[in-house]
Amino acid sequence: MSAIPRDQWYVAAYGSEIGQDLFSRTICAEPILFWRTRDGGVTAMADRCVHRRFPLSQAPSRLVDDQVVCGYHGFTYGVDGKCVSVPGQTRVPRTARLRSYPVVEQDSFVWVFIGDPEKAAAAKIPRAPYLASPGYTTVAGMEPLKARYSLLVDNLLDLSHETYLHGGYIGTPEVADTPITTEVDDEAGVVYVSRHMADAACPPFYAKSTGLQGRITRWQDIEYTPPCLYKLHSRIAPVGSVPNPDGSDPDAFHVEVVYAITPETEHSTHDFWAVARDFALDDDGVSAFLAENNRTVVLQDVEALDVLERVLAAEPDGYQELSINIDTGGLAARRLLQRLVTS
Ligand code: FES
Ligand SMILES: [Fe+2]
Repeated sequence: MSAIPRDQWYVAAYGSEIGQDLFSRTICAEPILFWRTRDGGVTAMADRCVHRRFPLSQAPSRLVDDQVVCGYHGFTYGVDGKCVSVPGQTRVPRTARLRSYPVVEQDSFVWVFIGDPEKAAAAKIPRAPYLASPGYTTVAGMEPLKARYSLLVDNLLDLSHETYLHGGYIGTPEVADTPITTEVDDEAGVVYVSRHMADAACPPFYAKSTGLQGRITRWQDIEYTPPCLYKLHSRIAPVGSVPNPDGSDPDAFHVEVVYAITPETEHSTHDFWAVARDFALDDDGVSAFLAENNRTVVLQDVEALDVLERVLAAEPDGYQELSINIDTGGLAARRLLQRLVTS
């Protein structure tokens, strides 16, 4: 049985990746063709010709005035996926239509709905407004992961691994040493995991970007909306600093770390990552540092999870795990994901 929930919105790409040419990405084992139409919208349809399954993203297939012409025998499709012409006859078979997908472009992401399009309610897409807000500066990327998406969910819900896997970047001893609190909003389908470190070493990732010297108060507040959107609200401040009663927080630095966890197949994942900050907004040096440093951190996870996937794939089903307090968030996420898979 598939472990991937259907009838769900997934991030397929950054809006900046899709222009007026053919772009293909496999989402939940479905190869999907995207392009930006002449009116600026993004269109999504199956990347397989109905005739003999030739990929429409593959040269010599081409885009001509918002129509895609199959490079094998010339079947031609419009923005809605409907075939408008076939070679050698005037009658176009009524069933000649590519499956098309609901798309929403929002918060710098292109979201696509996988499953029954009748169930695609755009209002249900979780938001990450910082990624396209003038109050923040964002660096972002995407790394391919040769591991099932649930391994990335586990990884992101338990940040104690920062101390070990990301020591010298974002990990310090206090992360693993500080207990977490976990809350689940069953109705909304959101998992919250918090770790507030009152007096912690400042890892290079934050010391170099904020300029803070010495020890810090460091808060990590995770908000995961299964299956796809993960947000880490990170607050860095001088030791002892707390937000004002009115919510203002002038002494702190805020970083919103956003991941979109999109299954490519049952055993591979698109690992979209973004880091939005509310300080040094125009400092290109800080942007370059955070982009490079975060990518390194993501690649440390990718390397570990790729290994783990190979290990798990070689194990017989039903292997026994051992979970402890740090796993509470990850276990809650698994429960919500399982509910989405079976619902
Ligand atoms: S496979 Fe596309 S036209 Fe034949
Ligand atoms: Fe990590």
